Amino acid sequence: MINNQDGFLATTLQQRRQKLAQLVDFPVMLWSGHPSPRNFRANSFPFRASSHFLYFAGLPLTKAVIGLNDGKLDLFMDKPAPGSALWHGEVPSPEEIAERIGADRVFSLSELRSHSQGAATIAVQNPTTYSQQGEVLGRAVGPADAPEGLDLDLAKAIISLRLYHDEGALSELRQAAEVSIAAHKAGMAATPKAKREADVRGAMEGVIIANNMTRAYTSIVTVHGEVLHNGEYHHSLQPGELLLADVGAETPMGWAADITRTWPVSGKFSPTQRDIYNVVKEAHDFCIKNLYPGVEYREIHMTAAGVMAEGLIDLGILRGDISDLVEMDAHALFFPHGVGHVLGLDVHDMEDLGDLAGYAPGRERSDRFGLGFLRLDRLLEPGMLVTIEPGFYQVPGILNDPERRSTYKDMVDWDRLAQFDDVRGIRIEDDVLITETGAEVLTAGLPTDLEAVEDLVRG
Ligand code: GLY
Repeated sequence: MINNQDGFLATTLQQRRQKLAQLVDFPVMLWSGHPSPRNFRANSFPFRASSHFLYFAGLPLTKAVIGLNDGKLDLFMDKPAPGSALWHGEVPSPEEIAERIGADRVFSLSELRSHSQGAATIAVQNPTTYSQQGEVLGRAVGPADAPEGLDLDLAKAIISLRLYHDEGALSELRQAAEVSIAAHKAGMAATPKAKREADVRGAMEGVIIANNMTRAYTSIVTVHGEVLHNGEYHHSLQPGELLLADVGAETPMGWAADITRTWPVSGKFSPTQRDIYNVVKEAHDFCIKNLYPGVEYREIHMTAAGVMAEGLIDLGILRGDISDLVEMDAHALFFPHGVGHVLGLDVHDMEDLGDLAGYAPGRERSDRFGLGFLRLDRLLEPGMLVTIEPGFYQVPGILNDPERRSTYKDMVDWDRLAQFDDVRGIRIEDDVLITETGAEVLTAGLPTDLEAVEDLVRG
């Protein structure tokens, strides 16, 4: 919940709606979404309400729509079908829900069309909902990257609110961070007795579930950290391997955390693993130290690239001058993704809108090897929550690519690199709030120091 006190929930939501009303002069309709059936209707995938709906409605309602007009809120929702109580129990009536979220009026879904004149919306990912949006509005719903239109204007207005977290959001985000920290500690503690990645995943997600939260994204718990979004958990754990865990909780109201730690299965990093871990840690710490309002996030990414390049030169893996290597994207051979992204209701917040949220107006993604996966290119301002997640990976598809081997042949000491073959992937990721005077690491309760991580694994 935004907060267990309904008064606080209603006030927070009302303030958000009033802010939106100051930004748009057209009516807005936001759909929560439909559950998606797996094989038959009564067995659906876990439901997740649209984040834009959640931001203004606060509750994860299914098959509901809110109408926002001039700061006023209408709730469109049907009463439960007859017989529904047999399977789902008694649920609050639309009128009770309306009171909780501070809605001024309640209508049934059949009345949607008559209230939709001239309304803007945001496309929901669920195909059933998306087609209902088009039907009700009597027009094609604008895609996130539409060059112009009402829906684009609405998207920009919502971005200008959701980028800067209010107290209600921060209270949720802190709860998600705390539970995620506990999950990572449980994962580390479970490792000595674990036989497979799945055992550690179970320990971590068990903490999240026991706190009545869900995963904010598909957990990555793997000894193959070089596969950036690895979703497999069947590998056995061998002494000498590193386990990379990227696991984050989501509160019942949908607010996310996103943490990555990498630890040795045996509880002790090898000398080569220590060396690389410390390079990544140096980049992580240096980036966080340099986060404050008025800094360009792209510069933070370039800082990470420079620190990584310097560390790899010191280890004898890269050869040359730091700025030349970064200019040539040599660091991206080992650090091919961006240093982070915005975090909020979505783990990559508002990426359903393409780069509209992540990139400041007038900026576009670069096609450079070292910048193409940068998800955030904005000036940092108070209230923004960003991840800082540098990493080092030995991705066979990159390192064995003949073209890259040739481009970087003089910049990499390939024989020296071979000595680090017990490092497949290391990432260290924290969630950092930009404040008026600097930055606050919401996930600071989970150590990053190598010895502290070893201690947590060894209990
Ligand atoms: N934590 C998963 C991601 O940022 O893609």
